[in-house]
Amino acid sequence: MRTKLVAGNWKMHGSLQANQALLARVKDGAAGFKCLSAVCVPFPYLAQAQSVLAGSKMAWGAQNVSEHAQGAYTGEVAAAMLVEFSCRYVLVGHSERRALYGESDAAVAAKFAAALQAGLTPILCVGETLAEREAGITGEVVTRQLDAVIAGSGVAALGRAVLAYEPVWAIGTGQTASPQQAQDVHALIRRRVAGSDAGVARGLQILYGGSVKPGNARELFAMPDIDGGLIGGASLAAEDFLAICAAA
Ligand code: 13P
Repeated sequence: MRTKLVAGNWKMHGSLQANQALLARVKDGAAGFKCLSAVCVPFPYLAQAQSVLAGSKMAWGAQNVSEHAQGAYTGEVAAAMLVEFSCRYVLVGHSERRALYGESDAAVAAKFAAALQAGLTPILCVGETLAEREAGITGEVVTRQLDAVIAGSGVAALGRAVLAYEPVWAIGTGQTASPQQAQDVHALIRRRVAGSDAGVARGLQILYGGSVKPGNARELFAMPDIDGGLIGGASLAAEDFLAICAAA
């Protein structure tokens, strides 16, 4: 039985003042939950997340990381720096990073490796666009994104990571994948990993992300291969985020 994880992705939202109330509320709420929970905040707010959430059940993390350990990479943030703020998680390969910042499968694989190397738990995001789904190549796209990471770090590395299936067409659109649509892709991912290592596949947490709300979380999380959620918009409203955690 895999423990469920609900991770918030604040994206580029927040302010010191607004975060304070949100973090304090989710920290209190999380105390009563059986599931794991975390928030991935913008870099400047990591110290705040650390200071409010330290010692609580809610973990925290970042939304991106450099593939390099240090050096002349203006504007980048190294995995070891995230560790200094006691991050547990870091998102890698979010579709917004892939689409808006040109992150290739190879770049994502390098970031994944850098995160692991530093002792962080990468949350590897994969998912197809609407055009790819309509072209019937969802499985091919997700497999290609996953295989790039396996080629770089080895399948055993997935045992120290989390996967998130986020269909691009469901992100921020209010159009959630149906539980069955999501389950089908989650099962495909798990089968793919099982082809290389059945034990890693069995233990792998695969989160679903894309318009998860309090009203649809329970039926998504009830599917056998859906091990929690990666929550965008709803993670910015404490009561919604806590309701989603409660569903897990
Ligand atoms: P929404 O929950 O706002 O659709 O965002 C999903 C997401 O991209 C989380 O990483």
